[in-house]
Parts: sequence; structure tokens; C-alpha cells
Amino acid sequence: MRGLRASVWGGFLAAVAGVHAIGQDTCVTFKSTPSSFSVVSGGKAAPVFISKDDWPGVQQAASDFVSDIDKVTGITPKITNETSTVKSTTPPIIIGTLGQSSLINAIVEHTNMDVSSINGTWEAFMTKEVTNPLPGVSKAYVIMGADKRGTIFGLYDHSEQFGVSPWYWWADVPTTKNANIFVDSAGCSHGSPTVKYRAFFFNDEQPALQNWAMEKFTNGTGAALTGSPFNHFFYSKVFELLLRMKANFLWPAQWSSAFGVDDSQNQPLADWFGIVMGTSHEEPMMRSIPVEWSLFGVGDWNYTTNSEFIYNFWVNGTIRAKPYENVFTVGMRGDGDLPLSESTNVDLLEKIISDQRQILTDVFNGTDVTTIPQVWALYKEVLGYFDDGLDPPDDITLLFTDDNWGNMVRLPLPDAFNRTGGAGVYYHYDYVGDPRDYKWITSSQITKTFDQLSQALERHADRIWVINVGDLKPYEMNTEFFLTYAWNSTRWNLNNLNTFVTAWAQREFDLSASGAAEVAEIVANVTRWNNRRKPELLNATLFSLTDYREAENVVTAWDALVNASTKIYNSLSSEFQASFFEMVQHPVLASSTLGKMWIFAGQNNLRASQARLSTNDLADQVESLFEQDYALEQQYHQLLNGKWDHMMDQTHVMYFYWQQPMTNSMPPVSRVQEKKQALPGAMRISPEGTAGTWPGDNPNQCAAMLNCPPFIAMLDNFVPFNSRFVDVGAGGPSPFTFKATTNESWLIVTPSSGSVSSSNPEVRVEATVDWSKVTGTQNAVITFDATIPGQPSMSEQVFFVATKNTPPAGFSGFVEGDGGVSIEAAHTSRNTSVAGITWTEIPGYGKTLSGITPWPRSGNNFGNFTPGTGPSVEYDFVNFNTIDGSGNVSTTVFVAPTLNNLGPDRPLKLAVQMDDQEPQTVAFIPPSAPGSLPAQWDGTDGFVADAGVSIITNWTATPGKHTLKLFMVEPSVVVEKVLINTGGVRLSYLLPPESVRV
Ligand SMILES: *[C@@H]1O[C@H](CO)[C@@H](O)[C@H](O)[C@H]1NC(C)=O
Repeated sequence: MRGLRASVWGGFLAAVAGVHAIGQDTCVTFKSTPSSFSVVSGGKAAPVFISKDDWPGVQQAASDFVSDIDKVTGITPKITNETSTVKSTTPPIIIGTLGQSSLINAIVEHTNMDVSSINGTWEAFMTKEVTNPLPGVSKAYVIMGADKRGTIFGLYDHSEQFGVSPWYWWADVPTTKNANIFVDSAGCSHGSPTVKYRAFFFNDEQPALQNWAMEKFTNGTGAALTGSPFNHFFYSKVFELLLRMKANFLWPAQWSSAFGVDDSQNQPLADWFGIVMGTSHEEPMMRSIPVEWSLFGVGDWNYTTNSEFIYNFWVNGTIRAKPYENVFTVGMRGDGDLPLSESTNVDLLEKIISDQRQILTDVFNGTDVTTIPQVWALYKEVLGYFDDGLDPPDDITLLFTDDNWGNMVRLPLPDAFNRTGGAGVYYHYDYVGDPRDYKWITSSQITKTFDQLSQALERHADRIWVINVGDLKPYEMNTEFFLTYAWNSTRWNLNNLNTFVTAWAQREFDLSASGAAEVAEIVANVTRWNNRRKPELLNATLFSLTDYREAENVVTAWDALVNASTKIYNSLSSEFQASFFEMVQHPVLASSTLGKMWIFAGQNNLRASQARLSTNDLADQVESLFEQDYALEQQYHQLLNGKWDHMMDQTHVMYFYWQQPMTNSMPPVSRVQEKKQALPGAMRISPEGTAGTWPGDNPNQCAAMLNCPPFIAMLDNFVPFNSRFVDVGAGGPSPFTFKATTNESWLIVTPSSGSVSSSNPEVRVEATVDWSKVTGTQNAVITFDATIPGQPSMSEQVFFVATKNTPPAGFSGFVEGDGGVSIEAAHTSRNTSVAGITWTEIPGYGKTLSGITPWPRSGNNFGNFTPGTGPSVEYDFVNFNTIDGSGNVSTTVFVAPTLNNLGPDRPLKLAVQMDDQEPQTVAFIPPSAPGSLPAQWDGTDGFVADAGVSIITNWTATPGKHTLKLFMVEPSVVVEKVLINTGGVRLSYLLPPESVRV
């Protein structure tokens, strides 16, 4: 019922006023309606009543609530502590926590109000207009929480709709002004959240967050014992942000900090705000590791040899945390977040956990330990102990983790669904470790986050969710997506994720629907491109410099993205520009600068080997982008008089190993001597599709060195770009003019002449074919004649082979072009459901277009299918060639690097079938020792670096019509692209562009 009313009302609201809401019911309007209650109208605000016996966190949120109303309207409501004897002629807003607030209890008693929908629930709230709530009040708008956070969330929910972004301080989002605010008398309500504990985790917070906090929250020196800047001034900003996003839990900054030591006010303040505290996966019993152990520990961090001291250390942490609300991390990792010593085994970990529970029992005076929230993270090697049979007590929440790269390593199996402690998720947007750190800029796609987290929910991992946010900025939107999804997962599905981004863009930048759609597209692209290869893992030859115009198209796309973002940035009023810069413009500019820098460095290196004068222009561009990279960092730091100074301190150009470089250094570039002419002469001919340049010797043109034959350019009528180009370039300082001529009328070159000089060192000549004049395969020659003042003329040829292919009449499907058939996985010819499971598109997922995955993933009772019997997709294609004329082809099915989350006994599998040949089943994540990942996962060109896995199979497929089929065997497999190599596919990072479909 609620949803129906909300959506009807929501549609109406959208038409009359831009109420800001992401994934929640809207109950706020800026114009009065027959059913509205006035918060502020005609220059008068409803008074706000609260009771002094309510929680301090509620008092704080109520005080924010009235100042938020002031930010929007310029009018501050009067807030007072009242009792049930209060009289008010103006209808007030009454705030309070059921069972805690005597005011709310009196209203419930007086009106016999039905509060059963929230009573006794976790963090639910209800709000509505109540007639005669108290003897002296004729009507009031009541905001009532089931518990303290329920009330707090009810308040901040309204603040957001009024126009105050949760990020108003953390990302400088301006408040949109309105003279009047009304709330619908039916109010807004929310039940218990999907996930009970919703947290982020500051981690690897040096250099950015730590340097920034040191400057902004301290006098330049950190805490006495630890040097940490993360004091209660810092954390009060954090707690407010968490609560405004309806999160309730925090893992505090860790590496050089100790929450309970850095500032003695940190722990009580968290509790005062209503935030539940924990410590990270490797910091048991509410004590920071390594900082606190190095300050207060005695002996080694080794439970085999030093259990007595460690035990007491934990006792003290527990006593210190006892007055507050906590989730205790149990278990143990080695010092420095490394695996425990070799002698560690399942028995020892069982003893550790049992001792920790004894400590809890003792410190909490015999309280039933199963009622004290505890979590045990199955991180890295700890998962191995779990796989080896470590069976922790049922009430401990098992925290399943990703591989630090956004792929859940494991998720609960049905036999764990009913554990009383349930399960949770620890996930990363930022990481320090193998194969390389990524901690600079936003590089997570919400489509992928959704894919993984929605599986976690299907597998009952809903008790605790923690997102590792590194320095928090610049992951604002992704962080909110994680927490919003955890708050109410039922709002989100495969097909409406974009509405999260558009609603976010409207809220943060007050954009129109079309402007917000453009921002959603920009955000989708920048995160897609940073995720297909993390910026830290870019290198100069990642994208093909010679084939499929891959590198050039990446550059063009970055330029278009920068233009699109800059257009919006320029259209915003100046007050919105800072927040847009922080959350959209800077990530776009910075990512594009780095991405282009690497590609230009690759082109520069290649051209040096080709003796092209334009080598130097590319070196200049790399140098200028390298300078620009720092300028962008500076611009960020100087924003708003330096509010975010240091927040972009993170180094990111040129890694030498997995760990961050100590400074940025420019990708290596080369220069040619600009006054010296290349030995073969003034003109350099560089055709598309080769790393060679003619004339002269070059390792990339022929092995024999002498008398290399001309290059043979090949074009067929189903090559997606439909042309080939030849770059005519300067081989030194001498200018020249050239003519390009062909010996066949079907071959057209544009331009057919040009001038090359040191100021214009490359002219691109494009060759196209008039296919109406070609039958079968025909040969031609392009001749480049150069006239060079003061030098003999030069002439160089490129051979050209044009092949016109004709698909069989009536054929519908993909047609071979350029040596293969490349297909976006979503572009199926047929899609067959089995047992209610259908391969379904995840829009926006992955490297190029989208992914497809069998849906629902819980279908068939989480069961699997024998190869060839499961849900299938089919791709019809026609080929004209086979590999070396053998009658064989090979296929690549490119899948996301989703891991074997069903456990070692159920590796992810997919079956591939060509026509009616025997299906081939591939388990693409190789087995690995418990607690470890396969070797292929790692490395700078491994599964996570490449953001995918290529499944290669070989088939017979003589020229003609064929059908490639993919069958589901196990759930969770996401296919992005399918490629059939008929003999001419070349290496590229994104696989060839999609083939022509007829
Ligand atoms: C109401 O009482 C509480 C508890 O004494 C106090 O902290 C709060 O500031 C008071 N609020 C107002 C608006 O006076």
C-alpha cells in the first residue's frame, strides 16, 4: 500500500517541485496541498518539541533538523524541550523516540495511536500528522523512531528532502532555497533496514586523509601518543555524515591511529551520536592494531608464545569499550595485517575465539555472550581456516570479504543461512596490496557493486556491511550507493541503478532531468574506464597502438567526456561548481589526463622506433599532461580557500611495484633529433595495422631488414570502421608535399595530396573502397610521391587488398569482418530460459557495453545444470574464413572475474557450444589452496588487472552460417563479450569493436 501511494504522490511531486530523495518515499513539498502540514510558510515556522529525556543523539539530530530548515528557508524554527502539558496554538512538529521520550509516550497513550509497525523494531521510524496528540495541542506532525537511530534517521530523511544533502559539508553541496516547506500529513515511514549494521572504514588513510585532517583538525601535531589527527573534531563530522546517510556503524582509521587512544572523547562521542563502533577485520576486541599493541603490548603479537599479555590487552580494550555500543571483532591476524605465523592452525584460532568470548563474558558481568554482537572476518588466509573446518559459534557474524578488487571470494551457502549471527560483507572501493594499490580516484562501477552485493543479500549476508573507502573522498557517490542499498535494498534492481545516479545528480547539483541524465552518463563512463583497468595499472602499450584504432579511440572518448563534463561545469552557478568539481569534474579531468598521458607515451615510444618527427610532439604532450596532473591536484587543494588541501596528495603516476610510488614520475618518453633527417629520407609512410614505417629498416616491418616489401593493407566490406588509413609523416626537418594516387578507381584516398613540415609533421590519408565496383578479392596499390625541396623526390607504395564478402541470402546475425566476429554479449540471437532462469542483461556493466548473467541467481535453488541443459543464449554468425584455412576457429568468451563464491566444490562454470558439436565446459577460476587465490588472479596482466577472464575454446566452423551457444552451468557468471577468431584477430585490450549485424 505504502509503495503505491508513494509512487503516485512522487510523480505529482516531481512535476511541481524538485524534492531531493534517493531511494526513499517522498513526503515533502514546497507548495501547500490539501493534505499538507506547514513546516514553514508565510514566513512562520512550526515550533519543534522534543523531550529532554530523549537520547543525546536525537537531541543533536533535532538541532540539525531546525538548522537545516533555516538553511532552506532562512527561518529557524524554535526548538524547545517540552512535556505532555505543553500548549501550542501553532501546530508543532513533535520529535521523539518511542519508549524513551516521555512526550512521545504521552502522545501514544493519549491518542491510542497504532505504533505496531515500528514498536520494538530496529531503526524504523514513522511520521504523520496527528490530530489532538496532546490535550493542549490540536494537531502536530509527529516524527517518531522505534529506537534512537530510528528517530535520527526520520529527522535526516526529512532534512534531505528539504534540500540539505548528507554531503553538504563533506562535498560542499549547496542547499537549494525554498520559502516554504510542507510535509504530507500521511508522512514518511521506513521499516527496519535491509542490513543491520552499515559502515564504512577509513583505511590506508595516509597520505591524503591524514595530511588533510592534520591541517584542518589539529594545531599541526597529532595526538600525544600516536601522532594521529583523527580526534573528536574530525569524527563529529564523520558521525553526522554517517547518520545523514542512515549508516550506523564505523570502522575507524587504523594504520597510524588508535580510535580509543588518539582522543579520549572519540569513543564516548560515537555513542553520544548513536554510532556503533567496531575495529577492522584485523583488530580484535576494540583495540587498534598495530598502534595500540606497539604502545601498550608486551612481547610478540603471537598467541602461541604470548597469550597471557595478549589476553590482558584484550581485557583492557573490552573494559574500555564496555559503556558503549560496539560490534566486537574476534579472531586474529598477524602483525601488519599479514597472515598469522605458520604454526597457527584451526585449533589455535578456536582457542583465541573462545578466550575472547570468555573476556566478553567476564567484562560484561556474565551477560550471555551470544547477545553481544561479534564479527569474525573471513579475510584472506582466515577463509582458509574456515574452509578447513573452523566452525565458530553460531552467534558470531561471519564477515565474507571480496578479493579487495570487488569480487566476493565466498558467500554463505544455504546450510549457513540460518546461523543466528548471520553473515555480512566487507567490500573495497580502495585498496593497498597486490597486484597494485588503487587509492587515488573513483574506479568502481555501481553496476558491479550491485551485482556482487545483491548476491550477498540473496545468500543472506545482511547482518553487517562494511565498505573500505580509503580516504572517503573521492568516493562520495559510490559510498552513498553502498549505504543506500544497505538501507533499503528493495528499491534497487538491475534496471534502475541509473536512477540512483540521476537522483543523486539532481540532489547534489540541482540539475534538470536531462542534465542529471548527462551526469549519469559521465559518471558511468569515468567509472567504467577506470575500472576496466585501474589507473595505477595503466601502461604505455595497454591499448593497441596499431589495431582497431584502440588507443586513439580511447583518447577521443576521454576528450569527449571532458567536454561533456566541462559543459555542465560551466553551466552551473558558481555555488554549485565546487561540489561538481569534487565529485565529477576533477575525477573526469584527472582520469583523462592520466589515461592520455600513458597512451601518448606509448605512441611516442613507437614513433621514435619509426623515425617520425612527430615523436617529439607526443613527448611534449606527455610532459604537458604530467604538469597538468599536478595542476589539477593543486586546483583541488586550493578549492574553497584550501578546504580540501592535501585530499589529493595520493601519488598515482608510474608505479614500480605494488606499493605507491613515493612521488609521481613521468612515463618514459623519447625524442628524435629534430634537425637530423631520418636515414631513409624526409617522408615516412606508416599504415594502420602495423608498427612498421616505410621506407627503411624497422623491426616491425620485415625480418630480413633489407628490401622490406611494401605493407599490404587489407579491408573487407564488414570491417566496422570501413576504411584504412596511412599516416604520411616527416622524417626530419625538411618540409615536403606529397600526392597519394591509386591505380584502381574503386580505391579512394582522402586527401589525395598534402604538405608535411615540422609544424605539421603528420597527415592522415584515409583509404575507402567503392564496394559497388568490387567483386571477390581485388588488389590495388596506393603510391605516395613526395616532392622535397633540395632533395631527390621519394616514392613509396602501400599494397591494398579489398575483399567483398556476401552473407547468405536471408541470413540474420553477425558477419565476419576484419578477421573475426566480435559480439557484445547482450546482443543475442536467441535467449532460452530453463527452470525460470534467464540470461539477463546487467546494463552498464563491464568494459564496453554490459554483461549478461543467469537470473535470478538463486533460481533452481542455487543448483547447477549439466552442460548443455541450462538456460542458454545463442549468437548466429557467418564466417568467410577459418584459421589458416583449416576449417577451425577459436572463440573467446570474456567474463567478469567473479570468483568461486559457492565454495571450492562448486567452481564457476560455463558451457560453450558451436552448432551441435559437443559442449565444452570451462571452470575459469582455477582451483587454489584454501584461503588463497589462483596465480592467474594476480599480476599486472592477471584477472583483476584485466578486469576479466578470457575463456578460449576451439571449434570446427567451415565458412558459412553458425550458431555459438553459451549455457549456464553454475550461477554468478557474467559474460561481457564473445569473440570468434576466424584467423585475423589481433591483440587488443578491449577486444575488437563489435562486428556488423545484419
Ligand atoms: C533538552 O534537554 C536536553 C537534556 O537536558 C539538552 O541536552 C538539550 O539541549 C535540550 N534542548 C533544548 C532545545 O533545550
